[in-house]
Amino acid sequence: MPFYDQYVEVMLSAEKIQARVKELGEQITREYQGKDLTLVGIMKGSLPFLTDLARHVDLPVTIEVMGVSSYQGGTETTGEVRITHDLTKPMANRHMLIVEDIIDTGLTMKFLIENLSARHPASVKVCTLLEKPSRAKVKVAIDYKGFVIEDRFVVGYGLDYGEKYRNLPFVGVMRTD
Ligand code: IMP
Ligand code: MG
Repeated sequence: MPFYDQYVEVMLSAEKIQARVKELGEQITREYQGKDLTLVGIMKGSLPFLTDLARHVDLPVTIEVMGVSSYQGGTETTGEVRITHDLTKPMANRHMLIVEDIIDTGLTMKFLIENLSARHPASVKVCTLLEKPSRAKVKVAIDYKGFVIEDRFVVGYGLDYGEKYRNLPFVGVMRTD
């Protein structure tokens, strides 16, 4: 039995995630034909998704990562976001696709869209593995979405609890039993 099975209950299996990531990659391949595309992964949560997705995009993409951390007011994010690792290349005239693990309140993504749009790219779009619509505080247009989930705290496939569980191949919820 895999080590994590005693702590985490599967919500989205590795097989289900991989099948959906392949579909998203194929859709991106179709929709960005002939364009200069940069995948911008948001660290650290998006990393497994970013690397799997990129391998299903059959285009000459470039990959960048950006680190952000949001200030916490109690347990809730305040929407004030700080850049901890910025892009290293100019983005003028490139098509940018932000790759995120999850959109919860939407405050982080709203900040990212505004910040990246100010760099004069050809376009900025959003790709997220997960969305928790019940928690949305701001409206964010999501162009590519893996799964819509209910309001549970999830871990795995990049998502952490206290920096752990990011390496699970599936997305799950912590066991309470
Ligand atoms: P937002 O600004 O509230 O949309 O926050 C998005 C960020 O919160 C994500 O990038 C995650 O790092 C974190 N987050 C939100 N929900 C979860 C969850 O269920 N598990 C792990 N991290 C989460
Ligand atoms: Mg994150």
